[in-house]
Amino acid sequence: MKMSRFLLPIPAALALALAACGGGADSSNDGDNAAAEADRAAETAGTMPPAATPAPAAASAATAMATLQPTAGNQTAGELRFAVVDGRIEVTGTVTGLPGGGTHGFHVHETGDCSAPDATSAGGHFNPGSTDHGRVGQGAHHGGDSDNITAGADGTAQVKGWLEGVTLGDGAATDVVGKGVIVHKDADDYVTQPTGNAGDRLACGVIQAG
Ligand code: CU
Ligand code: ZN
Repeated sequence: MKMSRFLLPIPAALALALAACGGGADSSNDGDNAAAEADRAAETAGTMPPAATPAPAAASAATAMATLQPTAGNQTAGELRFAVVDGRIEVTGTVTGLPGGGTHGFHVHETGDCSAPDATSAGGHFNPGSTDHGRVGQGAHHGGDSDNITAGADGTAQVKGWLEGVTLGDGAATDVVGKGVIVHKDADDYVTQPTGNAGDRLACGVIQAG
């Protein structure tokens, strides 16, 4: 996305709008999305304090939220909270509108874009370490891999999972803030590459600091 270099002098609002459109138009091109985000970061850098400030303290203090909304034809929704606990990111919350008793794949995905009716706009699993898909805590896995969630008879799942190999709110390439969260129709088998064979996307949200 070399073009975006030429956007830097024009008003921030327009540059942001163009960058957002570019990101949504082609979710398969991660490089472009990353470049757009970097450009946006560069654009605001002039008004921000020196880069020396945040890092470790900010990362350990950070929290984030995500609101899950149903994809087309589904009723799955939820509220999630992310917090750094003992050096990993805990994910807690509630997901409703799931098929009763079902087990469902649950991941952080690489793009915080839920605009597609089937949420394919969120891209694949967030994978900053360029590793294989797997199960968190058990060998190689994507940074966005978290354990399956299981709904009770009422279709509600209490989420208490975690992420490893990623960070929260530090602005690094591993930062999950701004990424997507997906609840899938089927269970993740923790083996099949690169998706865990978890099927369609029932709900999608964007991780937001706060
Ligand atoms: Cu997923
Ligand atoms: Zn994965």
